[in-house]
Amino acid sequence: MIYQDGEQHNKQRALVSSGFTPRQMRKMETRAREICVDLVDKMLAKDEVDIVADLAGALPARLIADMIDIPEEKRDAVLNWVNLIVAGGQGPEYVTDEVNDAFTNFCEHHEEMYQDRMASGAKGSDLLCIWINAEINGEKLDESQLLFEHVLLNVGGAETTRSAIAGGLERLSNDQKQYDAIVDDPSLIANAIEEILRWVCPFVNMYRTATRDYELHGQVIKEGQQVGVIYPAGNRDPRKFKDPHTFNIFRDFSTEAKHLSFGLGPHFCLGSSLARMEIRLSLEEMTQRVKRIRSPEGKPPEYVTSSFVRGLGKYPAILEPR
Ligand code: HEM
Repeated sequence: MIYQDGEQHNKQRALVSSGFTPRQMRKMETRAREICVDLVDKMLAKDEVDIVADLAGALPARLIADMIDIPEEKRDAVLNWVNLIVAGGQGPEYVTDEVNDAFTNFCEHHEEMYQDRMASGAKGSDLLCIWINAEINGEKLDESQLLFEHVLLNVGGAETTRSAIAGGLERLSNDQKQYDAIVDDPSLIANAIEEILRWVCPFVNMYRTATRDYELHGQVIKEGQQVGVIYPAGNRDPRKFKDPHTFNIFRDFSTEAKHLSFGLGPHFCLGSSLARMEIRLSLEEMTQRVKRIRSPEGKPPEYVTSSFVRGLGKYPAILEPR
């Protein structure tokens, strides 16, 4: 859907959009909370954790796997393949044998799931069944469209929210006053989520083609030109945000601008309500149960190298329970 325009895009998006409404998220919240509590329980039982693997990556991956109904025993492997596929998206020199294998494995996994659904008449309510049964203008999605939507939701669902949760906790752990402010007043979490999204900005860019000439800050963009939208730059525009390089959960978004982390217009992120819920649950559970998050000596957080998604690949930490 992300590469379609107009009616085709609307229809392709409409196939799955009812699964991502704020109302639908309220229904999913109990299950999401259970997963989050379980992950935090497990972290609190360890001397040292990796917040990316143990919470920030695991929560979104489990929820999207539930929505696609990925078999339990395949979930870790799928997550690993998706991580590798995204790493390969940085450019041709990053497409290693390992990345190629990951994509081949994902395709085989998709084919297995597809055949499994077809064998039982695709009667379920998971996203794959919805795509299989869908018809747009009397036509079914072809196999490559099905595969593409499947990859898109795995990447969208698992990679970006992971960066937001891990990056947000990392910022808060570096500023104990802001962390403690959330503990004292959990109603601050709503604003903190928006600041985390602005600050972390998990997607770096999307490319779009100008449909007409347009002048922006004295620069003329011609119809037909490709425009690289660099979201983190927009989120740090000093004309729009006060002191834009400072992470501040008290930022007043009503007098400043809205962040651009979920994009704008018809392609506005389909999973924004799900992402916000996952970030909220993580902040609630962590701030209520963990007094302080510290980095172990000589083990700073590590960023993934990617020109497409920004974020932490590893976040070693010691958690001080309350
Ligand atoms: C913090 C987390 C997330 C961020 C920062 C993010 C960001 C974005 C951005 C920037 C776009 C493109 C918007 C545009 O072109 O204007 C997008 C589209 C999309 N996102 Fe997300 N996303 C996140 C989480 C999710 C989740 C959890 C899902 C689903 C499970 C998801 C699914 C999608 C899909 C399907 C699209 C394409 C929508 C379309 O083309 O109509 N995203 N997202």
